[in-house]
Amino acid sequence: MSEEEKKGGWGAFILGFILAFLVGWYFFSNWFAVPPLYGKLEQPVAFDHVKHTSEDVGCSCEDCHYFRDDGTWSGVPRLEKCIECHEEPQGESPEERKFIEEYVEPGKEIPWLIYSRQPKNVFFSHVAHIKIANMRCEECHGKLGHTRKPPVYVYSRVSRYPQHTVMVMEECIDCHNKHKAKKYCFTCHK
Ligand code: HEC
Ligand code: HEC
Ligand code: HEC
Ligand code: HEC
Ligand code: HEC
Repeated sequence: MSEEEKKGGWGAFILGFILAFLVGWYFFSNWFAVPPLYGKLEQPVAFDHVKHTSEDVGCSCEDCHYFRDDGTWSGVPRLEKCIECHEEPQGESPEERKFIEEYVEPGKEIPWLIYSRQPKNVFFSHVAHIKIANMRCEECHGKLGHTRKPPVYVYSRVSRYPQHTVMVMEECIDCHNKHKAKKYCFTCHK
């Protein structure tokens, strides 16, 4: 092999390496805010947590997220909760007008997207964490619940599960270790 041929071989190798690297990077990198294997969606209504829990409106978290008398967790409020106040427009904002026209007037439930949604085989209970272990919402949900506008919902096109906002097994187990809470597989898996 001549010197020239050797150089050509190395050139092709390096070029191939760079190409493979770029392709891998393009598909799997977190460098892009939303890489191609991830989709993003806006919430159906731009609900403002800060405004609703401000002194002006005066709701507390428990007005909308609470335990029912039978101990089950209410989750996200249904439209009837919103209608307590929005039967009549409360202000002038176009966001509120759109919400009234699209959901309140036709009486249509709002299809909220759940940032922390767990896979079906995971068992999670708010009662154990809030009532028994006395935890604050922020320990697991961070800033959600204190935003002016719900963040963009980013999900994997492969698994269909939300990204970044969902709690992974390691995080559950880390905290269970810290508090000496149960961690048999069947504690969390159905
Ligand atoms: C007037 C009703 C209302 C009040 C009051 C309210 N929320 Fe919400 N909350 C909602 C609605 C509607 C959603 C769904 C839209 C969204 O995610 O912003 C939601 C979503 C959330 C979520 C996101 C859960 C997920 O994984 O998708 C968290 C966390 C949350 N609220 C916490 C709080 C906290 C903490 C407070 C008190 C500071 C609070 N909320 C007060 C109505 C309310
Ligand atoms: C306790 C009464 C009350 C409840 C319950 C309530 N709201 Fe409101 N909401 C208000 C008031 C007051 C405003 C402020 C109007 C303004 O100043 O423009 C408001 C504003 C809004 C706006 C406009 C936000 C903006 O950008 O100005 C939207 C959208 C909205 N609410 C949706 C909802 C939804 C969805 C629910 C149910 C999950 C809900 N509200 C429950 C009282 C309420
Ligand atoms: C120990 C962690 C933890 C704490 C503390 C916690 N949550 Fe959650 N929350 C989760 C997980 C995990 C999910 C997803 C549950 C699922 O998909 O089965 C969730 C789901 C939700 C949802 C989505 C609707 C649903 O399925 O319930 C809302 C709303 C919510 N939490 C609000 C709150 C509020 C308000 C508080 C404080 C009073 C709180 N959470 C405290 C971990 C927590
Ligand atoms: C911030 C800390 C923390 C995080 C995060 C956390 N847990 Fe827990 N969990 C606890 C504590 C403490 C208890 C014990 C409550 C008690 O005394 O019964 C508990 C109890 C439980 C129980 C009830 C166990 C029983 O006694 O039967 C289940 C189920 C559970 N956790 C599932 C989960 C899952 C699933 C996740 C992640 C999605 C999670 N937990 C995240 C602290 C946490
Ligand atoms: C404290 C709660 C908790 C305990 C204990 C726990 N898991 Fe999980 N596990 C989860 C959660 C939450 C998920 C879903 C999020 C994720 O994929 O990390 C999960 C996901 C998984 C997955 C799917 C992983 C993936 O990447 O798709 C497997 C497999 C699994 N767990 C096996 C186990 C086994 C085996 C044990 C017992 C040794 C166990 N888990 C104990 C909370 C728990």
